Amino acid sequence: MAPIYSRIIATGSALPERVVTNADLEKMVETSDEWIRSRTGIRQRHIAADGQTTGDLAFAAAKQALERAGVKADELDMIVLGTTTPDIVFPSTACLIQHRLGANGCAAFDVNAACSGFMYALGIVDKFIKTGQVKKALVVGAETLTRMVDWNDRSTCVLFGDGAGAVVLEAASEPGIYATCLHADGGYKELLYNPVGVSVGFTDEKNHGVRICMSGREVFKVAVKTLDSLVEETLQAAGMEESQVDWLIPHQANLRIIEATAKRLKLPMERVIVTVDQHANTSSGSVPLALDYAVQSGKVQRGQNLLLEAFGGGFTWASALLRF
Ligand code: UT7
Repeated sequence: MAPIYSRIIATGSALPERVVTNADLEKMVETSDEWIRSRTGIRQRHIAADGQTTGDLAFAAAKQALERAGVKADELDMIVLGTTTPDIVFPSTACLIQHRLGANGCAAFDVNAACSGFMYALGIVDKFIKTGQVKKALVVGAETLTRMVDWNDRSTCVLFGDGAGAVVLEAASEPGIYATCLHADGGYKELLYNPVGVSVGFTDEKNHGVRICMSGREVFKVAVKTLDSLVEETLQAAGMEESQVDWLIPHQANLRIIEATAKRLKLPMERVIVTVDQHANTSSGSVPLALDYAVQSGKVQRGQNLLLEAFGGGFTWASALLRF
């Protein structure tokens, strides 16, 4: 039997209207535009309006991707949504948007892999398509991460933003996705986590409630090292050389981490999609938002090879090498 590949046939994205600049944050915490830009590359971030949820952003991104693909919601066999900020505990945000889209009946579930959520979702859907069980699928990465930011903590509040991206995938006889790599190491929990939840309760020992706890410098070091070996593994899994990669579409957490990965790939920064300056770190939203920007701006063209990667809490890290 001829192999089946999954191909991205369209992308979509959604960002909240409200933009918060570094200058705005200077009025809230002891920070400076200079510090934020030089340490992270971030200039601004979008923040969800009161009442605007992860599901709202996911729905808008998904609708746009489906329209661009010319695919009707009821043709979908599967919806997988990466998020660590679901609207409610259950049903999953994937189920909530399935109903809003009118795709009732197909499989729908969320994946919580922190910032690697979209990459995990893409890897899972790719496998379902390869088995022949799924013909058309929607993969979404969506977050309202600023809802769990402590706005008094300058070491984290400057880093994050809200947003969503989506792709429509279809079974094809040619690549498509060559390889995906998914990893986690729960031993690193203490470096990046949110201490509260349904089962442990919503107040932690320090009485802080929902908030992101991060040892930035340590996360930075592990991220650079891990992404280095992830790139190597992904090239090997796809049977490719660095020179065959046309674009790097990385997780958008920190420009310095992105530059390190580009260097490892021997790619000039002109071949790297950077949106961290505009969006900040949108966790699961980051890679699909960057991909949609790359496609809509005309940078990424059909037939080019893209390396997508992400790293986040868990730790989790994941990648995909695909022909667009
Ligand atoms: O997406 C999930 C994965 N997450 C990441 O990949 C994040 C990885 N980490 C990072 O991106 C960086 O470590 C940060 C951007 C979070 C921090 O940059 P850094 O260069 O590692 O700075 P640092 O944490 O070592 O802090 C340096 C100094 C400290 O002051 P002292 O101790 O040197 O006096 C901080 O208190 O900068 C201070 N600082 C700030 N100053 C102004 C921390 N946050 C701020 C701030 N404004 N917002």
